[in-house]
Amino acid sequence: AEPLRIALAGLGTVGAGVIRLLASNDALVTARAGREIRIIAVSARDRSRDRGVDLSPFEWCDDMTAMACRDDIDAVVELVGGADGPALTLARNAIREGKALVTANKAMIAHHGLALAQAAEAAGVPLRFEAAVAGGVPVIKALREGAAANAIVRVQGILNGTCNYILSTMEDTGRDFGDVLAEAQALGYAEADPTFDIEGIDAAHKLAILSAIAFGARLDFASVSAEGIARVRAADIARAADLGFVIRLVGTADVENAEPGNAGSSPARMLQRVRPCLVARDHPLAHVDGPTNAVVAEGNFSGRLLFQGAGAGDGPTASAVVADLIDIARAAADGRDAGPPFSIPADRLVPMAPSEPGDRRGR
Ligand code: NDP
Ligand code: HSE
Repeated sequence: AEPLRIALAGLGTVGAGVIRLLASNDALVTARAGREIRIIAVSARDRSRDRGVDLSPFEWCDDMTAMACRDDIDAVVELVGGADGPALTLARNAIREGKALVTANKAMIAHHGLALAQAAEAAGVPLRFEAAVAGGVPVIKALREGAAANAIVRVQGILNGTCNYILSTMEDTGRDFGDVLAEAQALGYAEADPTFDIEGIDAAHKLAILSAIAFGARLDFASVSAEGIARVRAADIARAADLGFVIRLVGTADVENAEPGNAGSSPARMLQRVRPCLVARDHPLAHVDGPTNAVVAEGNFSGRLLFQGAGAGDGPTASAVVADLIDIARAAADGRDAGPPFSIPADRLVPMAPSEPGDRRGR
């Protein structure tokens, strides 16, 4: 079979991880995809920067947004970041040009995912973003496919690896917040602007995406309420421990009035919030340490489902990106439709925006 030909935009933590994974697991990936996944062109800001990977087999493109327009490309992988700017232009170009799009960019999906999904559906173009939520944990696929027979009424999780690394390291070592944040940045966990992590915005992006998938709801980032961990002190963590709790940044989305068969009654309501929470030591989320993420989903027939694993870092995130590429390569080889990225119900689910002091909605 012909290779799936890739344009790779962004060669930072995740982009370099994708190059390393494809080089290392070459035969395995080809066997599972049914064809080779071949990077043709790459782009980033600074051509001279040493990224610890061999870029010589690939063509360098100065204008990343134009990569989608090349005839020798089948799929675009966007690993640049930012809700708008070149990432969004590239994504729109890819869909317009009929190229499959894979992205790890939760900010872009949270803000523009619905419009991108509608454009992708109209164009018959696959759009995948497994890496955008919980890094290497394949929770999007699990909720969309594995739990598809369930009405899910609650989804909750630790969705930011940087915050979890900071909180659990402070808990274990008593070290200072700023010191541990610098370490999380050096390890490649944090966003380019780490205030997105510590103010809860990144977790809010992910919660909005997760809710849309879990509940079949309209993606609506503006209705997520978020508060971060910047005001958590070592003394708070120690006091919580004395009382039998740990502090974790938790995102929770609930649906009220969502029983199957309530058609005709008032629409279901969805409440989404991200908060530092006291988590009792016997709760599954209390033992999630380091850059680990965990998602708990309550299905009406499956019961409680727990998904857990590395939520940030080059290897785990590259794993999710390449899984999306394998899915696209396989669907195309089988002549299958890759399926819609979101289900988009018109008015059955109404996102509610709690308004509380300190909320950071709509960023
Ligand atoms: P990095 O900051 O490490 O890399 C970003 C890359 O994009 C760099 O190669 C940079 O170029 C390039 N870039 C940034 N801005 C521009 C621009 N204006 N024009 C051209 N190139 C640009 O980010 P990550 O690899 O960590 O993250 C990439 C995406 O993946 C983001 O959306 C992030 O949220 C998401 N993500 C990250 C995870 C992680 O653990 N790091 C986990 C899950 C998702 P240069 O190198 O030349 O500066
Ligand atoms: N900055 C993000 C985090 C990267 O720490 O979780 C993974 O999405």
